[in-house]
Amino acid sequence: MKEPERLTPQQFELFQKFIYERCGIKIDLSKITLVSNRIRRRLQPANCSDFGSYYQFIASKPGAAELVDFIDAITTNETSFLRTPSNFEWLKNDFVSELIRDRAEGKRESSLRVWSAACSSGEEAYSIAMCLSEASVSLRGWSIQIMGTDISESSLKLARDAVYRKRTMQELDDAKVRRYFSEVSPGEFHLRPAITEMVKFKNHNLMKPMLEKPFDCIWLRNVLIYFDRESKAKVIDNLVRSMVSGGYLVVGPSEGVYDMLGMLQKRGTFLYQKQ
Ligand SMILES: C[S@@+](CC[C@H](N)C(=O)[O-])C[C@H]1O[C@@H](n2cnc3c(N)ncnc32)[C@H](O)[C@@H]1O
Repeated sequence: MKEPERLTPQQFELFQKFIYERCGIKIDLSKITLVSNRIRRRLQPANCSDFGSYYQFIASKPGAAELVDFIDAITTNETSFLRTPSNFEWLKNDFVSELIRDRAEGKRESSLRVWSAACSSGEEAYSIAMCLSEASVSLRGWSIQIMGTDISESSLKLARDAVYRKRTMQELDDAKVRRYFSEVSPGEFHLRPAITEMVKFKNHNLMKPMLEKPFDCIWLRNVLIYFDRESKAKVIDNLVRSMVSGGYLVVGPSEGVYDMLGMLQKRGTFLYQKQ
């Protein structure tokens, strides 16, 4: 059977509304070819002959498992260890120094909560864990909780499995690779338990409020690029509510939210603080 070429504008609108309702991502009509290509790849595995029957399937109860794969196909999961190294330099140096100073001045407890919001396959959350473990002498006796969340179940599974390939490890020098990984088979590196045990993962849609104790530092990087302004504002509102006062928000270069962060104090090109 001939594969369908591209979504019609009417079909695109159906998928666009569906994706918006599930993920908050409002995909523009200019992305019709990209979306068509990504959905087309799912037709055969889902046993569907065309876009229309695929839509019916993912919107139905029996299509729940396929819906997970559909969301994976639509979202971009590209990530890597220590991506944008300057963010991690700040964490390891300035942020840790500030924590220690504030603790010494009695302004805070010896506990720390960090959230990698939209963590994909875990590299960002684990990079945070690596940096904090490198500061372990300064943070001796501290309770450190790192949480990674994502809307994509398959990404979370990869994060929990914690087996990586060299492709996402470009920013790690050989010494770090040896320290943090064991090579389980050629080209496959298993992150050591000392790091994996520092991070908990769970499924969370950033469009919804986070019902957890607030965080001292939240990382929101390379996720909002396809969100419309209304959804971006919703995500920012949810995150700011989840920050302690004095807490930091680390944003990626493509979030497009700089004019929505007026309630926070700008502390650097990628860094905002709640007063
Ligand atoms: C490109 S990755 C970013 C990973 C990491 N933050 C980084 O900068 O390397 C974007 C992630 O956002 C997730 N995502 C997209 N929409 C989301 C939503 N509404 N809630 C939570 N995660 C979402 C995707 O599943 C994907 O794993």
